[in-house]
Formats: sequence, structure tokens, C-alpha cells
Amino acid sequence: MSQPAVTYELIKTDKKTGARLGKLHTPHGTFDTPMFMPVGTQATVKTMSPEELKEMGAGVILSNTYHLWLRPGEDIVQEAGGLHPFMNWDQGILTDSGGFQVFSLSKLRDISEEGVHFRNHLNGEKLFLSPEKSIAIQNALGSDIMMAFDECPPFDSSFDYMKASVERTSRWAARCLEANVNPDRQSLFGIVQGGGFKALRMQSARDLTSLDFPGYAIGGLSVGEPKEKMNEMLTYTTPLLPADKPRYLMGVGSPDSLIDGVIRGIDMFDCVLPTRIARNGTCMTEHGRLVIRNAKFAHDFRPIDESCDCKVCRNYSRAYIRHLVKANETFGFRLTTYHNLYFLIKLMKRVRSAIREDRLLELKASFFESYGFNKP
Ligand code: GUN
Ligand code: ZN
Repeated sequence: MSQPAVTYELIKTDKKTGARLGKLHTPHGTFDTPMFMPVGTQATVKTMSPEELKEMGAGVILSNTYHLWLRPGEDIVQEAGGLHPFMNWDQGILTDSGGFQVFSLSKLRDISEEGVHFRNHLNGEKLFLSPEKSIAIQNALGSDIMMAFDECPPFDSSFDYMKASVERTSRWAARCLEANVNPDRQSLFGIVQGGGFKALRMQSARDLTSLDFPGYAIGGLSVGEPKEKMNEMLTYTTPLLPADKPRYLMGVGSPDSLIDGVIRGIDMFDCVLPTRIARNGTCMTEHGRLVIRNAKFAHDFRPIDESCDCKVCRNYSRAYIRHLVKANETFGFRLTTYHNLYFLIKLMKRVRSAIREDRLLELKASFFESYGFNKP
């Protein structure tokens, strides 16, 4: 078999934790891991230009099969030569499979062995998505990393439902691998499910690793369960995944969860959190969240985060950004978005340095203390 499009190079394993330092080699560049991937659902990271994303050090960005299929349609993206030229992004792109979005956006749906029937959340039209269809769309989009079409059931589903779902997701995963017409340019990652049941996480990991994917994601977490439960599932699941393949924790992006995920052997994360909260005026800082609309910032001419060296913090004040956000000016949201993404990308850089220098637990302790995670 030829080399997969995306490969993982393990550089160092932390002696005291499960953390790993590595490199992800893709057809659009090599990226240091652990890393955070900004979300660009509709082929744009909301309010950011590709030039800005590059400047802040984003390597891989995420996009969504479901949204691009409905609008503008994968045929138009393909006609442009794929997502990279379509959106003018020459670094890594990962596309989610659409499974999760169908489950979160469409209330009316009907799951069968074949796939999922549901209604378009934009206009109510009847649609059908299957493993084959999801991969055909992702092949047309031309992402470097494609995700298997999975079911992400509610965390509180019964054991019996979850078991049937995990087994179907494994059969769907095999169909996805079979359907990939472009494995030497686009790598397909499998997604471990199983909710909060250790036995099902184990079964899912075993099923998927036997299919030999070039990378593995852990899905079905950060869906409303307590943080301790997520950490427990990670502690249990990552050791079941092969050390020579990348591990991706889907939909997780709060600073504490990134560090706790890295400690349990996760290499890749994505989340709408930094961009979404930015658009309602919330900023991540070394000292916790800062709500820029707050009246106490009206006369505050300091930067969002005094310890941040991003271009926003070097040039704009809390008072100015507060004014823009309160006046609903687009530029205000561009500034908060830029800072939040920069903050998480830089946090991951600090995490990588700490792993390299054997002081990850020290970084965790000091960061949690300053961010306020240890406070009751
Ligand atoms: N994004 C966040 N969680 C999930 C998941 O479980 N599956 C998929 N496909 N995407 C996700
Ligand atoms: Zn900043």
C-alpha cells in the first residue's frame, strides 16, 4: 500500500503524563502538535482573512461537509479546484463529515443502516447523507483530512442504544474507507464513539484500529457531560489508540480542556468556542475570561490581555474595543476573534515548549492558577 496523505511523526513522549510532541505531515505542509485548529464552517473562519490566520500561526483549519454541500454545493468548490484555492488557504484543511451537524442542526431525522434521512435546516427540503455520500463530497472538497461519517448520540443514551450506534458507526467507518477515491492526497480519520461507557469506547477503539486508519478522532465528548467524565473517558481511550497515529479530540477548545487533553495524549483539537465567544465580546486572557461589554472597561486603556503580544493587544485598548462591540461594529468582532485565536494558538506553543522541556505539569499548575480554574 502507498503512503497515506497525512502521517504523524512522534518526536517525544512526556515522562510524567501521556502528552506527546509531534509533527503532522500533510500535502499542504507540516504542523507541530499538539495543535489547535480554528473552525471555518462555511469555508471562512468568521471575520478572519487567510492572511491573518497565517500571521497568527494557524496551521490546519476545519470546515464542514454539511454546510458546503448545502451551500454553495461541492461541485462549485470542485470547479474552483477544491477548497484550498476556493478560499485562498494553502495550509492544512480538515473537513468534518456532516454526521455531527445533521444530528445537531436537524430535528427531523431518520437513521438507518444505509444512512440518515433528514431535512435541510435552511429550507426544510428532504435530504439523505450516507458514508459514501459524505466521502464523495469530501473528495470533491479536497480537504487534507476527511472525517468518517459517524453518529454522535446524546451522552445520556442508554447502553443498548449506544452499543447499536457504535457498531453501526464502525460499519459506516469501513464503508468510508472503501469510498475514498483519493487516499494518497486525502487521509480519512476514524472517530471513536461510545458515550460515557468504557466498554463501548473500548469496543469502538478496537473496531476502528482494526481498520487501520491514518489517524483517529475521539468524538461524542464535550456534549454536556461533566469535565471529569470527559477526562475519564480520555484517560481510558487514548491508550487504546496506536502511538504512531495522530489523535484528535473533536469539539473541545476551552483552555483547561486543551491542557487536560494534551496530558491524556491528544494531538489535535478544534472548537468554535474562541470565535463564537469573541462575537459576543468575550475574550480569553491569562487571567480568565474578560467580558469586554462590561461598564468597568469604559475608561480602561490597557490591552485586552497585558501579557499578550498579538497585534490587537499591541495596538488597541479595552475601551476602544468595548465601544466597537457595543456599537455592533464588525471591526470590534474582528479584533476579539483575532485575539482569542492567537491566545489558543500561543497556549499550544507554550504547551509544546513545556513538553520539550519536561515541565508540562508545572505549566498546567501555573496556568490554571492564573486563569482561575482552581478557584471554587
Ligand atoms: N464534532 C464534535 N464532536 C463530534 C463527533 O462526535 N463526531 C463528528 N463527526 N464531529 C464532531
Ligand atoms: Zn492579544
